[in-house]
Amino acid sequence: MDWGIQNRLNRLIQKDGKALFLPIDHGYFQGPTSKLEKPGETIKPLVPYADAIMMTRGVLRNCIDPAIEKPIILRVSGGNSVVGDDLSNEEQLTSITEILRLNASAVSMSIYVGGKYEHQTLKSFSRLVDQCEDYGIPTMAVTAVGRELEKRTARYLGLCSRIAAELGARVVKTYYCEDFAKVVDGCPVPVVIAGGPKVDTALEVFEFVYDGMQCGAIGVNLGRNIWQHQYPVAMIRAIRGVIHENLTPKEAQGLFDQVKAGKA
Ligand code: 5RP
Repeated sequence: MDWGIQNRLNRLIQKDGKALFLPIDHGYFQGPTSKLEKPGETIKPLVPYADAIMMTRGVLRNCIDPAIEKPIILRVSGGNSVVGDDLSNEEQLTSITEILRLNASAVSMSIYVGGKYEHQTLKSFSRLVDQCEDYGIPTMAVTAVGRELEKRTARYLGLCSRIAAELGARVVKTYYCEDFAKVVDGCPVPVVIAGGPKVDTALEVFEFVYDGMQCGAIGVNLGRNIWQHQYPVAMIRAIRGVIHENLTPKEAQGLFDQVKAGKA
């Protein structure tokens, strides 16, 4: 691997081979998402515990201090919206010049395998890989399901993740599901777990992150289950514990309770 791309990957994936990415890119298709109305404010207390932050160029330029030391994963696709016809109608919208100008450590883009715009998103992702590889910038493919959350099975996500890797993704972000090991085993590049809509309890999050890590994921790209929680700092610190300190879900819950109570 060339020095530049390896160097950028090393900034994202820590020395222990694991990573906690914090995405705040949701506004690119769903507008001012709850708790993300002012993304710069939302993430201020969370940044110290994240290994990288994922966002669009608009939020980066307008809401984030350029002195930030954490690596940026730039969301470079879009063109769809929650009120549009089809969420899968997405493609690369941010140029390679802009990616370089903004000093992105990596880029991310959604692919919609099996969707109406499957071919468009796969072709656009492959072009993005070509452009980014020229400059040593890693690409992270997001295996998107749009509104069809029931698609999240090991068979489907394994298919999407493998296709993403075959097209040149350096990292794949996919949803956690039952038999998650099958997804990771069929994917020759590192896999991070996406969160999806907020679940009922903190423990559920610790459990799926823990199981995903046991199955071979290198970490998470987790947004709403952190910053939509009533205690976001306690959430991110407990999840960080699962990822980087091998905490069990029960131990993570203990850390969460302590942080929440102001005792840690
Ligand atoms: C939105 C994204 C998000 O980065 C991804 O869904 C992870 O965030 P969350 O944990 O809130 O699902 O790609 O398109």
